Amino acid sequence: MFVKNLAVLFTLTLVTFCNSSFIEDLPKCHLEDFDCLKDVYQTMIRKMGKEGLKEFNIPPLDPMKLTNVNVNVHNLVNVTMVDGIVKGIRDCVFDAFSIDIKEGRGHQENTCDLVIKGHYTAEASSDLIAALLGGSSIHGDGHAKVTVGQVHVKFDFPFYAQKRDDGEIYIKCNYDLVKYDYDIGGPFVIKADNLYLGDKESSKIITDMMNQNWRIMMTGFGQPFMKKAIQEYYFKFTGNFFDNVPARYFIIEDLTPYARP
Ligand SMILES: *[C@@H]1O[C@H](CO)[C@@H](O)[C@H](O)[C@H]1NC(C)=O
Repeated sequence: MFVKNLAVLFTLTLVTFCNSSFIEDLPKCHLEDFDCLKDVYQTMIRKMGKEGLKEFNIPPLDPMKLTNVNVNVHNLVNVTMVDGIVKGIRDCVFDAFSIDIKEGRGHQENTCDLVIKGHYTAEASSDLIAALLGGSSIHGDGHAKVTVGQVHVKFDFPFYAQKRDDGEIYIKCNYDLVKYDYDIGGPFVIKADNLYLGDKESSKIITDMMNQNWRIMMTGFGQPFMKKAIQEYYFKFTGNFFDNVPARYFIIEDLTPYARP
């Protein structure tokens, strides 16, 4: 019994030790060393994606689960990922990163290759569909996989040094005020089954058309999907880190002069 407890204790200690060492081993950067901060960010995304941060009860975030995620585009297209995943965030490449603590603004650019797959439902009806495909409506309920390459996103985000009751200073970002812009380099490939045009199984025709016209399609319909992806998923991912890990673990300068509640 004692030996068993000791083993448990030892394992717990080891687990705690391994986790805390990740945070302690983060590169420590000067506020103006953007290459160094970019490294911290990239290291963080990899680690959170693969293993999460057990000491803060954050599970691995890549693949990220999607449950009943609904996107409705102008009431023309209504797509729901009933039960699926998105993969690839942990391998996002950081093309640029900079912060200005006096201004309270940061800028960041990433490029990601993403795969989204799972059980989907979809509905669409419009004159456009009638004209293009010769049927008045599309509906689907099946399995889909979307591969999107080279999603390049630029963010401008307001942030400040937040002093909390625990005495620590954190980097606090106001995600509602983040401005972003994106472009998609491709490739873009969608595969789906059980897609109907009217009452006719037409998965191949519909996905072929989408794959051939994905650039136009993303211009018209991409925005709500990207908004969802960025605001509800990407920020949750990164926010988990900055909301839990005090700035002193990755910033050398004392942020006290900038800190406010
Ligand atoms: C979109 O589809 C979902 C799932 O089928 C449904 O619950 C929702 O009401 C639909 N939204 C609109 C605006 O039609």
